[in-house]
Amino acid sequence: MAGSARSYDDTYAAWRRDPAGWWAEAAKGITWDAPPEAAFDGALGVYGRWFPGGRLNTCFNAVDRHVAAGRGTQAAIIWDSPMTGRIETTTYAELQQRVAKIAGALAARGVGKGDRVVIYMPMVPEAAMAMLACARLGAVHSVVFGGFAAAELAARIADAKPKAIVSASCGLEPGRVVKYKPLLDAAIGLSPHKPSSMLILQREAAPCELTPGRDEDLLAAEAAATPHACVPVESTDPLYILYTSGTTGAPKGILRDNGGHAVALHNSMSMVYGVGPGDVFWAASDVGWVVGHSYIVYAPLLAGCTTVLFEGKPVGTPDAGTFWRVCEQHRVKVLFTAPTAIRAIKKEDPDGAFLKRYDLSRMEALYLAGERCDPDTITWSERLLAKPVVDHWWQTETGWTITGNFRGLGLFPTRAGSGGKPAPGYDVVVLDEAHQEVPRGQIGSLAVRLPLPPSCLPTLFNADDRFREAYLSAFPGYYSTADAGMVDEDGYVWVMSRTDDIINVAGHRLSTGAMEEVLASHPDVAECAVVGVRDTLKGQVPLGLVVLKSGVAKGEAAISKELIAMVRDQIGPVAAFKDARVVARLPKTRSGKILRATLRKIADGDDYVVPPTIDDPAILDEVGDVLKAAMR
Ligand code: COA
Ligand code: AMP
Repeated sequence: MAGSARSYDDTYAAWRRDPAGWWAEAAKGITWDAPPEAAFDGALGVYGRWFPGGRLNTCFNAVDRHVAAGRGTQAAIIWDSPMTGRIETTTYAELQQRVAKIAGALAARGVGKGDRVVIYMPMVPEAAMAMLACARLGAVHSVVFGGFAAAELAARIADAKPKAIVSASCGLEPGRVVKYKPLLDAAIGLSPHKPSSMLILQREAAPCELTPGRDEDLLAAEAAATPHACVPVESTDPLYILYTSGTTGAPKGILRDNGGHAVALHNSMSMVYGVGPGDVFWAASDVGWVVGHSYIVYAPLLAGCTTVLFEGKPVGTPDAGTFWRVCEQHRVKVLFTAPTAIRAIKKEDPDGAFLKRYDLSRMEALYLAGERCDPDTITWSERLLAKPVVDHWWQTETGWTITGNFRGLGLFPTRAGSGGKPAPGYDVVVLDEAHQEVPRGQIGSLAVRLPLPPSCLPTLFNADDRFREAYLSAFPGYYSTADAGMVDEDGYVWVMSRTDDIINVAGHRLSTGAMEEVLASHPDVAECAVVGVRDTLKGQVPLGLVVLKSGVAKGEAAISKELIAMVRDQIGPVAAFKDARVVARLPKTRSGKILRATLRKIADGDDYVVPPTIDDPAILDEVGDVLKAAMR
């Protein structure tokens, strides 16, 4: 770790004095085929590029080098699946063999350096192996979360233009088998781009028919393949694209490079989480999200840890003690999950009766991220676990924490409700609408002074202009996080809310704009707004407000049912869109713009002022009552 055996303040100050030198030191944790010519070059790319001239292979760093160093018999991945009742361990040596063969199978189907591969898989080890196999070839993976519907998958296939897709016959949700093949076929049908091959993992719960000439059995292809060696790539070459919700229906392809990503993530394991080779790290998330990319797959493996890949839920698989059972059984040192998961456990096991059945003496800390964490969830966890609970703030765009607390630098006292202090690498500021820094303690837009540190997106896939427009234009010289918040007198950062139409449902990032596009396409809907309403379990849940076209005789219940089905069908079950209300009117400005920001504030239970531009304040009261009634 860069700056080891130093305090947070010293380390942050050391980074500020010499950012390039600090990151050059961190880069020593990576095995390079050719060392970088510089830590950073501000003349390259949109705002500069990290480690230009360096050549490396991310898969080699995550897998092969640990085998070469004698760690081949250590567990690399523990797959724990209450959904199937199976627990399986893959050692580093086994991982190397399987990944090399899956890479060979992909190469035999024409996948090479720079080609894209879409991975649409449930939480099985083959999902991580497929990602690493792409990295091994220098190919670019794009993992799509299993809870998205065919249309969302199609949008990602159309944008990424993959040569191949790696998938599975089904995913397993409590009480429901999610068949992937019909979704894949529908998505490929919808997308103008068609992949030439598809490798499918046949799962016992629901094997599928393979389309001749295109689909093949993944395990058979792996068995027949010749192992493929690691292909060195440029530090600045892409490792993956991860699509995330933007303010419109079209998702944004967050691009991650190889060099900066490897350096930042490797460094984060010791600096942020305080773990090293041989330690067991568990990120209870999904490989379809950024937390899964970074902390189920890449970072723990880059650091030579054992990672837990969990196919289950915090409750109901089979009970609220599952997380603690996994921690005991696999000797988890650090657990990372979303506050929602802890809230779900807390709701079912408020006094910790399940928790107390397990020996958690090996667990040293709980890290939370993905959404704003209510202080009560932090204090409940601290009290029952009697271990540090760290809230840290980050985004798909950054790939690792923007602010947090740092076990590798000695933890400073936490403050429930705050996301901690900036990680070395980030100069976090709070700006007002005139682009000026606001005094400490005042709320404004959270921004990061450029350049962003390694691992953060250098741009969007094939969309430099959209990148500039979406992130760099609001505050010239800064990356706009689209989060609002403040920095207090002591330097703690408090993230309060999004400044755009993104909502966070059970730690899942969703665009209300995308949902509005779906509602607006209903033939009876004249206009609509979707807002995130406060929810005690999921943080926020979407609520649709629709105004019907005149003359529509259908009742609210019928319309609502149709709208719910449409969102589920076009975005996916993960949108958790379960409530749509018919209203007579929506509050607007005199120029006809729907007052979404005000609706958001009411739905969040925040204070708001009636905008002076409002057309008819009475409408705000009417709709406000509907929103308040929907809060849970
Ligand atoms: N494939 C298919 N469907 C999926 C899915 C997947 N991978 N993941 C979720 N879904 C479905 C669920 O089955 C559910 O469908 P339903 O409407 O038929 O019930 C819907 O999407 C909503 O899922 P979710 O938001 O997960 O809610 P839930 O009620 O099933 O579970 C929690 C609630 C709290 C247990 C769950 O949200 C959870 O574990 N949250 C943690 C979040 C997390 O890990 N986030 C990652 C960021 S760090
Ligand atoms: P995602 O890209 O899905 O990780 O979502 C990123 C968004 O989630 C951020 O922009 C925040 O709005 C929110 N978020 C993530 N972590 C935190 C946190 N610790 N505190 C507050 N908000 C958070």
